[in-house]
Amino acid sequence: MSKEHSNNQIGVRLPRIDATGKVTGETPYPGDIDIEGQLWLKIRYSDRAHARVVSIDTSDAEAYPGVVAVFTAKDIPVNEYGLVFKDQPVLCGPGTSKAGGDIVRCLMDNIAVVVAETEEIATAAAKLIHVEYENLPTVFDPEAALQPGAPLLHPDKPQNIISHYRIRKGDMAAGWAQADVIVEGAYSTGYQEHAYLQPEAGLGYIDEEGRVTVVVAGQWVHEDQEQIYHALDLPPEKVRVIYPAVGGAFGGREDMSVQIVLALAAWKLQRPVKTIWSREESILYHHKRHPMRIKTRWGATREGKIVAAEATVIGDAGAYNYTSNKVLGNANLMVTGPYVIPNAHIDTYAVYTNNTPTGAFRGFGGPQAAFAAEGQVNRLAEALEMDPVEVRRLNVLDEGSLTTVGTPLPPGVTIRQVVEACAAESDYWEPGSDSFQRRSLTQPADPARRRGVGFACGFKNIGYSFGFPEQSWATIELHGGAEIEEVIVRAAGADVGQGAHTAFVQMAAEATGVSTEKVHLLTQDTSETKTSGSASASRLTFMTGNAIRGAAEKALQLWQDEERPAKATYQYQPPKTTPYDPETGKSTPNFAYGYVAEAVEVEVDIETGLVQLVRVVCANDVGKIINRTLVEGQVEGAVVQAQGYALMENLISEEGRILNPFLSTYLIPTVVDIPVEVKSVLLEYPNPIGPWGVRGMAEMPFIPLAGAIAAAIHDATGVWIDRIPMTPDVIVEALRQHGIGAIAS
Ligand code: MOS
Repeated sequence: MSKEHSNNQIGVRLPRIDATGKVTGETPYPGDIDIEGQLWLKIRYSDRAHARVVSIDTSDAEAYPGVVAVFTAKDIPVNEYGLVFKDQPVLCGPGTSKAGGDIVRCLMDNIAVVVAETEEIATAAAKLIHVEYENLPTVFDPEAALQPGAPLLHPDKPQNIISHYRIRKGDMAAGWAQADVIVEGAYSTGYQEHAYLQPEAGLGYIDEEGRVTVVVAGQWVHEDQEQIYHALDLPPEKVRVIYPAVGGAFGGREDMSVQIVLALAAWKLQRPVKTIWSREESILYHHKRHPMRIKTRWGATREGKIVAAEATVIGDAGAYNYTSNKVLGNANLMVTGPYVIPNAHIDTYAVYTNNTPTGAFRGFGGPQAAFAAEGQVNRLAEALEMDPVEVRRLNVLDEGSLTTVGTPLPPGVTIRQVVEACAAESDYWEPGSDSFQRRSLTQPADPARRRGVGFACGFKNIGYSFGFPEQSWATIELHGGAEIEEVIVRAAGADVGQGAHTAFVQMAAEATGVSTEKVHLLTQDTSETKTSGSASASRLTFMTGNAIRGAAEKALQLWQDEERPAKATYQYQPPKTTPYDPETGKSTPNFAYGYVAEAVEVEVDIETGLVQLVRVVCANDVGKIINRTLVEGQVEGAVVQAQGYALMENLISEEGRILNPFLSTYLIPTVVDIPVEVKSVLLEYPNPIGPWGVRGMAEMPFIPLAGAIAAAIHDATGVWIDRIPMTPDVIVEALRQHGIGAIAS
């Protein structure tokens, strides 16, 4: 594409366009918006993990002073929703239009919504709804759920299997025969709560054109719109979704929370209806990161070449799919890491249980898989008495190397450069002419405190995988006379806090040759824009950037032809991907990837088991930096979020019930926990199909961190930790088993 309009808007540290309003508090989030005469909505949730709802008596609630209406399953025209497939009732109970819609399958199922004059009245009345249940057998362990005869959650999914992916590559017997060293691992990972700043909230009303309108925070306005009009059986144009500011998402807002019930109440009552979830409701009633169990075995030659890998991955999907089949699809690909593995045998399952549903969360199955893959590579390095950086240099995928799914990665494969840059920039390794050597680390004077360094790397797709339709629209309008005075950009893509809108403005300014002050962005409103797809999969800068560039090129052509205003719309479609072959996994799963490596330093207190993350060096090939400050912010945010995941965040679920739904009992990192330094090593090897070479980067720095921390703990203590979270009790127990840190008696 032509470079003639380049005016250096790419790569600068433009302050975020939304910064001032957010800092001053003027920017409204959904919970801040009120409409005169609004009613309040509260949800009555399930009391059972698995039961048939025999009857619902709403008479006491309806008689409660100030209650306007109570809605149940019989009031939903098409009582189902779901992002990938619609397996969840909006409201569970008798009179449902959906087969099986009278069954609750987890404690987050909704039974009724109460609409009242005040929030207090709605809350009180929700407790007055009397629900009669007939218990059904429960299953909370995904391995138990796979057994024949286990209670079945959805009759169309035998053995509770949502998806089973297989990779069959090469000849396993030959692979194991070549292996001089074999390491086996059993890894388990826990839930993670998104813990975004703003709990779910929203407002439903009928707009001036008679559309049922929902103001809410999400990741994809057009998808929310689709799920609402499907459930209410309305034509698409009768439903409008608007996002004001979004207070964080991280995948946790990909699925519906308050959208459909707000639309239902506003539509039925033709009045504005508002709701705000408490923090407790937010933690209890939106999905989590998947707990996974990964059993795996890798073999390598004496020289350090990986020759075989096998793995079984089981992901607990909870009671509904959400995006589980896609998340486990990613884990299936990433559980062997960014390595050349000639012989591979993988089985990956997403399994229904009566637990809280699990779904998208930054990294989308990658972090769990990388914890196992990087754990295996680091154990191989130990067994081979090789440096962990050197083992990776021997095995990483290069341009043209075949992945486990039998195809090469798309052009622009840079994991080797990323690994080497990370090691070199970390100061923990001495780069030689053709090898890297660990430098020695100064230990603290206190013998109870031991420092160690760990290394891990990873890769992550950009955009949707496995043949899922992928596209993004943008519209550009050029206004003015002789000169372009204003550029109006229409692009729906959500700014969930990552800074996408600032990047859109910079890319539009660059593409049209104006300064960023002349760019006006219309966004996050289904009535103003065509779909951009979701703010997820590290995709928006890449996808919408390509759409903006395409629209700008067409608009500039019209401008030259003297059209005023010059207006053009463009849909970007990336190269096609394909699903896994059901028998072998052979596929072209993705059209682009980002590559990342991390070196970390930890200090382990062997008496208390507390692990302090001292320093993180993150090398990330982002293709092209649009805004350096925002990219650094994504690196630091992902590192700290992954630190919480690896070391602190311990969501406890018993028989499907989350026991610590509070930020006082579910601990996330604060300023006293975070590393002293996060060094961002940003590399710019262009993505051949990216706008200005952009790859996408927001998830990548999350992927390898837990594996790097586990390696650093091992470096400090000699003990491998194979589960997440690596909380002090886990560390102490593992150390004591190795006779380390025992209190003298
Ligand atoms: Mo994200 S986990 O791709 O919303």
